[in-house]
Formats: sequence, C-alpha cells, structure tokens
Amino acid sequence: MQKFIVEGGAALEGEVTISGAKNAVLPLQAATLLADTPMSIRNVPRLKDVQTLAAVIEGMGVAVRFDEHNNIHTDTRTIHTFTAPYELVRTMRASILVLGPMLARFGEAEVSLPGGCAIGDRPVNLHIAGLEAMGADIRVEEGYIRARAKRLKGARIVMEMVSVTGTENLLMAATLAEGRTVIENAAREPEVTDLARCLIAMGARIEGAGTDRLVVEGVESLKGVDYTVLPDRIETGTFLAAGAITGGRVRTLRAAPDTLDAVLQKFTEAGAAISSGEDWIELDMRGRTLRAVDIRTDPYPAFPTDMQAQFMAMNACSQGIGVVVETIFENRMMHVAELKRLGANIRLEGNTAIVAGMPYLKGAPVMATDLRASACLILAGLAAEGKTTVDRIYHTDRGYECIEHKLAGLGARIERVNA
Ligand code: UD1
Repeated sequence: MQKFIVEGGAALEGEVTISGAKNAVLPLQAATLLADTPMSIRNVPRLKDVQTLAAVIEGMGVAVRFDEHNNIHTDTRTIHTFTAPYELVRTMRASILVLGPMLARFGEAEVSLPGGCAIGDRPVNLHIAGLEAMGADIRVEEGYIRARAKRLKGARIVMEMVSVTGTENLLMAATLAEGRTVIENAAREPEVTDLARCLIAMGARIEGAGTDRLVVEGVESLKGVDYTVLPDRIETGTFLAAGAITGGRVRTLRAAPDTLDAVLQKFTEAGAAISSGEDWIELDMRGRTLRAVDIRTDPYPAFPTDMQAQFMAMNACSQGIGVVVETIFENRMMHVAELKRLGANIRLEGNTAIVAGMPYLKGAPVMATDLRASACLILAGLAAEGKTTVDRIYHTDRGYECIEHKLAGLGARIERVNA
C-alpha cells in the first residue's frame, strides 16, 4: 500500500493549475448514456473515481476512450447490458448516477445498491422515490435496484432533502421522460448546474439551472456533444488551504472563483488576503496570523462539507477557538482522531468539533479514512514540525489528480512511497 511522507515546515509559494471537477465529471460520464451519438468530455481529471465510472459504462457496452489530453470520448451505440455490478458500485457510490439515464433511455436498469460508506449511511431512497414518481417500477432485491419503465412520465417531485447526485439522477431521467418534470428542493451545487448546461447542449429542455426548482420538458432523444468540465472547487479550496496553513502564498489557475464564495469568505475571516480574477484565486498568508474560524456545513451556496476537514486542519494550528459543525453527513469527523495524533486539541461532541488552535503540530504516522480526510492530514503534515506519514492514500487518488506533484511544485516536501 502506498503512503505519503510529508516533511512539514515549508511555506508554499507559487502557482498551481486546477483540474476539472471530479463531482462534475462523474454525472457527465453518466449523461453520455443518454446520447445517441458519440460524445467528448474535456478537462477530465485522471482520477480513480473517473476510471471506476468509465468501467461501469464500459461494462454496459459503451466504447470509452481516454486520450492523452485529458479528454474522454464515448459512443453508446454498442450498449448491450443494463447492469452496474456490485464489484464496481461498492467501490464508488456515485455509480448510482447511471440508474436514471439507463432507465430513461432503455426502459431498464439494474444497479447494485452502493452499500456502506465510511462517512455515513448515505441511502439512495430519494433517487428511487423520484424515479417511482416518474412511473418506474422498482424492486430492490438480491442487493440490486431493478428498475423498469416503458417510458418515464414527467412528474412533480419534491425532494425531502437536498441531494446532489439525487438531483442529478432525476434531472437526467427527466430529459427523456414524456412531458414535464418539476424537481423542487433541487441541489444548487455548481456541478448540478454544469450537468444541466451539458444536457441543454445535448438537446434537453431545462429551466431553472442553478436554482432549487428545475423544470424539464422531456424530449425524444439527445445527441452527443463536446463539453468541457468546470474547474474543481474543492481541489481549489484545498490548495488555498495549503497556502494558508503554511503561511505562504498560493495562486490557483484555471479556477472558478464564483463557485467558492462561502469558502473564500472563511479564508478571509481566518486572516488570509484573498484576491481573484476571472479564472484565478490567490491566497496570501505571509506575515499574517491564522485565526480559528467557526464552520457550519450546508448545501450550496453555503460552506461545503467537502471542505470541512481541510478547515479543521487549519483551525488545529491557528490562534483561537473554532467550532466546526457537520450537518450533511453523520459520520464525517474521523479525521479528528488522526489530527489529535499530531497534537491537535479538539473536543468532539456528536457532529460538532470544538477546535482550540495550537501554536504548532508535530509530525506522526496517521491514516486517511476518506477522501477529504486524506487532504486534511496532508495539510496538517505540511504545517507540522518533522515527518508525517499518511497511510491509505488510495482515498486521495480517488479525488486529487497528482496531488504530490502539484504540492511539490509549490515547494512542499512530499513523497509517495510504496510500503
Ligand atoms: C455529493 C458529492 C459529495 C458531497 C455531497 C454533499 C458527488 C459525486 N459527491 O454526494 O462529494 O460530499 O454531495 O455535498 O457529487 N440522502 C438521503 N437519501 C438519498 C440521498 C441522500 O437521505 O437518497 C442524504 C445523505 O445521506 C446525506 C445528504 O442526503 O446526508 C446529502 O447527500 P447527497 O447530496 O446525496 O450526497 P451525494 O450526492 O452522495
């Protein structure tokens, strides 16, 4: 198993280019299933999760080709099965995104239930209920969701909770349904909007993208297009956090500042100087004191749960006390115990962490428990005195493209080792 060895203490300086957004690419890969003709997705990050979804659709018979310029080309004309098997789905919940498109286009889909997940129960009841409201006959048996529908019918769906992939699944299904679908309490995450934009380019009729009410008029068919993925706002935030936690200056290039308002506000509150242009953001922490900040995660446009762990690391080595409340997932505090191994002073009460900033952390061996927790530990390692070894970095590879090379380009001392 591979590990990162991080030698802390270097203030990061320089520029880093942001990759395409993982959480935007995955629904776009699923959306290719809706296209009658070949399709290309550009600015695709080379990530394990992207490979997993490619394997899911390839298993169904889709021709998938990655080229050397970070593009994926797909052709669905060779689809022969409608099943997403357990072996793949269990490694990545987002595989559930193929359910809506397959059902809408082929009237049939069989997707393994995703099963347990480190950061909480994460059920898929909203995906199922929405498709049922559109007339699908769904049975959950032998660990699989088996769905059938002659043709889905437009419906008014009120989502009980804001769900990102739930909204995406229903949005994709609605594009080929008969008549009008209204999705109320829809997720407003930029990745949902990016998907809507791509679907519109494919010929879908969607109104309300970016709001919590999506109105879709079903069409007969969609065509493949050439679509460029939006920048990864969580990767952007993570590199800015690396600048903040090391007292350095980091400029993220090919970023999308308008997708990060709540996060940039918190960086400013933490004492950083933030400046931005159309597609770049710079954080300058040189000569400034990092202050602990209160964080409460909520659906977009509020502070994202996917940045919670990184801010916890910042709070751990700042001045003052920061209260971090996680409201989206019930078990997303596993990095707390690991941060404590580096000397962090954190009290956990349910889903609230009270973090008393320490003047310094000290390197230690730690273990990543999920994707963003792994980023949190790398950040803490960059700030800590001495050597931090981060184990189980396969979590990191699910969502960060070449993180060690990008960090090294900013002056970080980080190395991937086989152990
Ligand atoms: C997506 C993101 C993930 C991010 C999360 C929240 C992708 C691939 N992943 O995950 O990085 O952390 O949004 O911003 O885009 N829920 C139900 N029933 C359902 C669906 C969800 O109860 O059918 C609950 C979940 O347990 C959770 C909450 O709703 O408590 C939000 O989850 P959701 O937005 O669906 O997360 P994902 O789409 O899985």
